[in-house]
Amino acid sequence: MAKVTVPKVSARKASRGDDALVMITAYDAPGARAASDAGIDMILVGDSVAMVVLGYDDTLQVTVDDMAHHTRAVARAKPDCLIVGDLPWMAYHVSVEETVRNAATLIRAGAQCVKLEGGRKRLAMIEALLDAEIPVMGHIGLTPQSVHAMGGFKVQGRQAEAGMELIEDAKMLQHAGCFAIVLEGIPVKVAKAITDAIDIPTIGIGAGPHCDGQVLVYHDVLGIEDRFVPKFVRRYGDVKSQTIDALSRYAADVRSGEFPNDDESYHLTDEQSEAFGLYGSDG
Ligand code: KIV
Repeated sequence: MAKVTVPKVSARKASRGDDALVMITAYDAPGARAASDAGIDMILVGDSVAMVVLGYDDTLQVTVDDMAHHTRAVARAKPDCLIVGDLPWMAYHVSVEETVRNAATLIRAGAQCVKLEGGRKRLAMIEALLDAEIPVMGHIGLTPQSVHAMGGFKVQGRQAEAGMELIEDAKMLQHAGCFAIVLEGIPVKVAKAITDAIDIPTIGIGAGPHCDGQVLVYHDVLGIEDRFVPKFVRRYGDVKSQTIDALSRYAADVRSGEFPNDDESYHLTDEQSEAFGLYGSDG
């Protein structure tokens, strides 16, 4: 597969007949290689790393340095997928200058573009990023970095007026120059209206089937954990069970002496064995 680029993504509208865009999060080199080998279009090095890898209860705990660390790991795998670096909370809230510097850190770590959460109130930051030649993916609806302001991880746009506001936000993000927008946790009808109202692709997560693409979290898709499973997740694997099974068999083999066996061990040559003073057959 040829490297996926921002212009290629920006031009794809599944709602107008193109192939749907597929995005998955990944946070390390093996995950990035698997996504690339599976023909996924985009890897989001998401701040969800805070919850699914680092064990925090929300995404607010990760820093630009954390995100750069994971972005570098993903980029080292040289995936064909477009790498989207997620700007964490407080990376784009203080000033335009800090926003551009923080985004540049993710670009230098290997991302080809950045994502940030929020609608119209982010316009100044988005314009500054685009001025610095950094492509921007928007993200509206249930924006996890607003967890406290929203009073929890709650579906947004359930009231008609709030839904209309989301359409306006999407139009403004498009006008500002975003190349795509993530729609998270919003009703199907609102997501469809947004998708129909803009020319750039929408990437849904918990936003129904009418978006131009979908994104899910790597650990959710693979079933790496079975703690909380949001309604919108479909599991395509049960890696947790397979992992526990594999680790249990490993532990049992070590305890019974079944592991390691002769083939899994290194041996001296007969000559060296003799010189070493070993006379057993297992030298
Ligand atoms: O960090 C993340 O995983 C995300 C997706 C939920 C879109 O932002």
